[in-house]
Amino acid sequence: TEDHLRHIESLATFPSGAGKISHLRATNLGECLSSEEHDLVFPTPEFSDKALVPSTEKYLEMYRRSVRDPAGFWGDIAAEFYWKEKWDCEKVCSENLDVRKGTVEIEWFKGGKTNICFNALDRIVDNGDGDKVALYWEGNVPGLDDKLTYKELLDKVCQLSNYLKDVGVKKGDAVVIYLPMLAELPISMLACARIGAVHSVVFAGFSAESLAQRIIDCKPNVVITCNAVLRGDKPILLKNIVDQAITQSADNGVSVDLCLTYENQSAMKKEATKWQADRDIWWQDVVPKYPNTCLVEWVDAEDPLFLLYTSGSTGKPKGVLHTTGGYMVYAATTFKYAFDYKPSDVYWCTADCGWITGHSYVSYGPLLNGASVVIFEGAPNYPDSGRCWDIVDKYNVTIFYTAPTLVRSLMREKNEYVTRYSRKSLRVLGSVGEPINPSAWRWFYNIVGDSRCPISDTWWQTETGGFMITPLPGSWPQKPGSATFPFFGVQPVIVDEKGNEIEGECSGYLCVKNSWPGAFRTLYGDHDRYETTYFKPFPGYYFSGDGCSRDGDGYYWLTGRVDDVINVSGHRIGTAEVESALVLHPQCVEAAVVGVEHEVKGQGIYAFVTLVDGVTYSEELRKSLILSVRNQIGAFAAPDKIHWAPGLPKTRSGKIMRRILRKIASRQLEELGDISTLADPAVVDQLIALSDC
Ligand code: WT7
Repeated sequence: TEDHLRHIESLATFPSGAGKISHLRATNLGECLSSEEHDLVFPTPEFSDKALVPSTEKYLEMYRRSVRDPAGFWGDIAAEFYWKEKWDCEKVCSENLDVRKGTVEIEWFKGGKTNICFNALDRIVDNGDGDKVALYWEGNVPGLDDKLTYKELLDKVCQLSNYLKDVGVKKGDAVVIYLPMLAELPISMLACARIGAVHSVVFAGFSAESLAQRIIDCKPNVVITCNAVLRGDKPILLKNIVDQAITQSADNGVSVDLCLTYENQSAMKKEATKWQADRDIWWQDVVPKYPNTCLVEWVDAEDPLFLLYTSGSTGKPKGVLHTTGGYMVYAATTFKYAFDYKPSDVYWCTADCGWITGHSYVSYGPLLNGASVVIFEGAPNYPDSGRCWDIVDKYNVTIFYTAPTLVRSLMREKNEYVTRYSRKSLRVLGSVGEPINPSAWRWFYNIVGDSRCPISDTWWQTETGGFMITPLPGSWPQKPGSATFPFFGVQPVIVDEKGNEIEGECSGYLCVKNSWPGAFRTLYGDHDRYETTYFKPFPGYYFSGDGCSRDGDGYYWLTGRVDDVINVSGHRIGTAEVESALVLHPQCVEAAVVGVEHEVKGQGIYAFVTLVDGVTYSEELRKSLILSVRNQIGAFAAPDKIHWAPGLPKTRSGKIMRRILRKIASRQLEELGDISTLADPAVVDQLIALSDC
């Protein structure tokens, strides 16, 4: 810990530029868009003066305490929340991250009794903010909108909680939620949390197959969905997808008794919805009849709050399990500091609640701070590429949090789509999901933020629950493309192949050497896989799966996944999942999937496929292979390129050499490296010849 502190303290030697205006604030935007990669961008003095953490020194003071005295640091923060019973003081945290010393186990605030819904709603109302807007809902079609105050949100959550209790949902039961970005999505999450049920939100872009897989794993009695949603002009019939998934689950011995269906009138009339009367029920027919108060189920800090499935390097998705107390404290605190949150802010995060970002930073983090949150049902380029800035102006959004893929897709359009809106309300920007390339960073900073708003490039994961490495705007100069420094209480390390920590300027594998309150506690039903995936690769540490380098100033630069996971538009997709979807196609015998650089999505999916003997590759077959992936996983996982491969490069022991496939896919043919160990080196030339097929 002391070594680690010394390293972080090298920060204090930064050029003391805080208070200076960023030298990227040139008048000629073209010039600053092309400036050096390692530029320092200082927060403006106006910003720093009012910031929660106004200087590097203040950060260091807080950071030092957070690692030397985690119990004191986190205990003080946790005390700002409501606890029905306090945790055992000495044991704010107990952890074993070292597989060599026994089972990996992490506990925070154990013995404390609380409820995250109470803290996010009742506590805010009790503090006199009941009339403050909690959610601004913006529909897909401009002009369609709604809002709910904290009191109104609490009423709706209580009604649903009462209904769920009435139909038999109890503490510890799983509830699957398959909803688009309607207010009913956070309402459903909060209602589950209120009664101690464990929600598992499945992103409404997943296919019936994927939804079934998740239902089979966590066995809910109740699924919450809606009839349909509009994506641009196109209705997507979500209820039909749920019907298929439930049928499939039943075939696998898991039955769902109740499908609570919200009627999303803007997308589709209820009469047009397929119905199974003994199982399906309209939300609007039952929920509003229930009382709008509901006693809270007090749960232990270590009782499960939610499950969220994410992709790993094998085919089966992992059920990441988060518990209540630590997650609550961590989501709230990271939100507050990384976005320099003030009660007057209006916050908008473009993520869907189907991903972790929507859990921690659409729902829980902001609501626990009493923030006003914009939620948006639609697509950011509908009806045109100016929609985001239209929404920013409409609600006077002050904090805007999005993904690099969106920034890159918008920067391809004319700047006029941005500049025709005022955006003067904006004060903090945020980025998440993948490394943000410096040119996208600069466009975001200069064009969207008018060279005035710091960008919080937040590195974290489904597993971490909240931010791990992130700028604290106002505290230190930023470097375009770097996530900067660790959040309070997080001790990141970079290790080499052998698991030795490397000091100073270096690159290697990103690990963390201690636990933090928001850390996931297990993979649902598979603690072995939890240990094997995250704690065994480098014993003594949590392994993130990411590569990372640290520069001479101590800034962290994430370099992408080092496992078989592809990051497409900020969505994690396992190559193995796509491969299994492809080989399910009757004409495909083998598939090998790699990631390739993609201008907008960050990475694209490139699939090599070997066909059944005698089958010829055709345009029709290409389409049906892609369809197979859409049906098995979801449209967002559709391969960008299918490459017909009569043979795949394999070692003599039969292992596919992905390194070679990656080079062929990215057309780096001069860097193929040694191919002499292949069982049949001739397949390489054959594959190259078929590249443009
Ligand atoms: C993976 C986690 C956590 C929210 C969204 C994705 C990549 C995420 C950054 C960032 C560089 C990033 C990593 C990580 N990633 N944020 N700011 N800079 N890389 O959650 O699906 O769990 O994916 O996303 O590779 O491991 P996720």
